[in-house]
Amino acid sequence: MSWKVDAVYFYLSGVTLFFTLLISSVLIFFVIRYRRRSPYEIPRPIAGSHKLETVWTIIPFLIAMTIFAWGARVYFQQYRPPENAVEVYVVAKQWMWKIQHSTGQREINELHVPVGRKIKLIMTTEDVIHDFFVPAFRMKADVIPGKYTSQWFEATKPGTYHLFCAEYCGMNHSGMIGSIVVMEPREFDNWLSGNTGNQTPAVAGQQLFQSLGCVSCHGAEGEGGRGPALVGLFGRQQQLTTGQTVKADEAYIRESIINPQAKLVQGFGPIMPTFQGQISEDQLVQLLAFIKSLHAPGAQPAVPAASPAATSNAPANTPSPAKPR
Ligand code: CUA
Repeated sequence: MSWKVDAVYFYLSGVTLFFTLLISSVLIFFVIRYRRRSPYEIPRPIAGSHKLETVWTIIPFLIAMTIFAWGARVYFQQYRPPENAVEVYVVAKQWMWKIQHSTGQREINELHVPVGRKIKLIMTTEDVIHDFFVPAFRMKADVIPGKYTSQWFEATKPGTYHLFCAEYCGMNHSGMIGSIVVMEPREFDNWLSGNTGNQTPAVAGQQLFQSLGCVSCHGAEGEGGRGPALVGLFGRQQQLTTGQTVKADEAYIRESIINPQAKLVQGFGPIMPTFQGQISEDQLVQLLAFIKSLHAPGAQPAVPAASPAATSNAPANTPSPAKPR
């Protein structure tokens, strides 16, 4: 991925360099060629040329469009995570990066990943805007309060890479640094198994689901009741009372917990209380992971189970079978 970003960068630099040289040499040439030769010289009047103007409008336009199309292509590849990526949750706060793997391991200011696996980061912050920046991966995205941003990467070489916060976020902004540790798959499995003892976010979310009383309306297994069913909800289109439909993605689920009245599901009244201020970003992430884990019976999970053994790497374009819509 990084070489694709570099290619656009070098193309841009090349275009810039070419025109800088072209314009300055033509400028110097004209200055000499058309200099004033005698104090009484009167230049010939010039009426302009439509042909010339058309040419120097269309050529730069075409060049600008190649930059646009190429840049957009790389941008969309970078900000649309593939379906089979392993999910990692990132919660930023002044001044640290809190990271949790979908297998439960937690880390601070460090992210261990195996080489050659696609990793999708689901990021949010407890306080101000931060920015998750890994120069070696050409990867950078703002982490914004009240919403989830995603980016993904696939590390191709083992090693330790710098992680920076790239958005001024207060006194210790410059100290909000960490590292991405890329390991061989076998080493990574050892690391994973040596770091157990944490519940997976989905299991922690299930316990929250009970302790917060969500079960009384959404059912013990998320099967629904006075509140909408949650089984198979993630990724589906949800019909609202307004007649609109909305895709049940991370942002929608988050909003429905924080501000349940914002998008009421068709057939249900505005009876759910808000959980704004009552649960932390970490807990929100756990509830989200739990709701994502509630698949309709018989359906395949949209995200491969991140078991330590599953180090094999399916091609990016493999469609996940029978994904509930
Ligand atoms: Cu966090 Cu700068």
